[in-house]
Amino acid sequence: MIIYLNGEFVPEAQAQVSVFDRGFLFGDGVYEVIPVFGGRPLQLAAHLARLARSLAEVRIHNPHDPSGWESLLATLLEKNPGGDRSLYIQVTRGVARRDHAFPVGVQPTVFAMVNPIAPQNPAVLEQGVAAVVVDDHRWSRCDIKAITLLPNVLARQEALDAGATEAILIRQGLATEGAASNLFVVGDGVIITPPKDRSLLPGITRDLVMELAQDAGLPLMESTIPEQSLQMAEEIWLTSSTREILPVTRLDGRPVGTGLPGPVWRRIHGLYQDYKARLREGA
Ligand SMILES: Cc1ncc(COP(=O)(O)O)c(C=O)c1O
Repeated sequence: MIIYLNGEFVPEAQAQVSVFDRGFLFGDGVYEVIPVFGGRPLQLAAHLARLARSLAEVRIHNPHDPSGWESLLATLLEKNPGGDRSLYIQVTRGVARRDHAFPVGVQPTVFAMVNPIAPQNPAVLEQGVAAVVVDDHRWSRCDIKAITLLPNVLARQEALDAGATEAILIRQGLATEGAASNLFVVGDGVIITPPKDRSLLPGITRDLVMELAQDAGLPLMESTIPEQSLQMAEEIWLTSSTREILPVTRLDGRPVGTGLPGPVWRRIHGLYQDYKARLREGA
């Protein structure tokens, strides 16, 4: 694999970062994940805008404007040919002697790599996945895509230990999002997702799903989702760039709705696959 690191494209064995990097010492950095289908990044402008926002919120200089990022990522994709992939970008505050205060005169560390996206598992699309409800132990700026992911890691592992695929996080009685995904429920045929605020990541897949649903005339509402209403939901979905729209068919061991992926999920999944197909064709 060829890695982009601080202005150079290098084989992964040569891509090395100092132990004094603030990403390593403090988790002081932000990241972005962009899916690529048929060589074309999905919603690239939106991903780069979110990266710019994350950087601005944590006061790290954005090393590139959108066209600079675009050409860097295009070169990285060229150097790592393959099928469906995802781009990972990480920018940290840079390398300095360990001190909490921002270092002066230090360049950010800029790293990007390409990872394969696993093809969708037909069993997941037929049967859905299990999720569990977990307390949200994260900080109060979950809208920033920070690399500091320990609570997300622990939540996901709690889900896996319980035989589930993903954790749905609960904060002050409300279901906000998954450990690495956004949350949608269907109730009385209406698609509901929590409004964007500091308790959740403004997911690019979330926005695209909302746009596709609206364009198709599906009833949709942004509203908080109390934990108890999860048990009554007809459908639950979790969305992310790499896992797309996952139908959750078991929650804490109990079936969601009929216990199989629901009709509204089938519709939105189809619309999302059509969107990807158009992207692949360059439409
Ligand atoms: C906490 C969290 N919420 C939501 C998402 C989904 O965001 P996106 O659709 O932009 O991948 C992610 C993605 O990794 C995430 O980590």
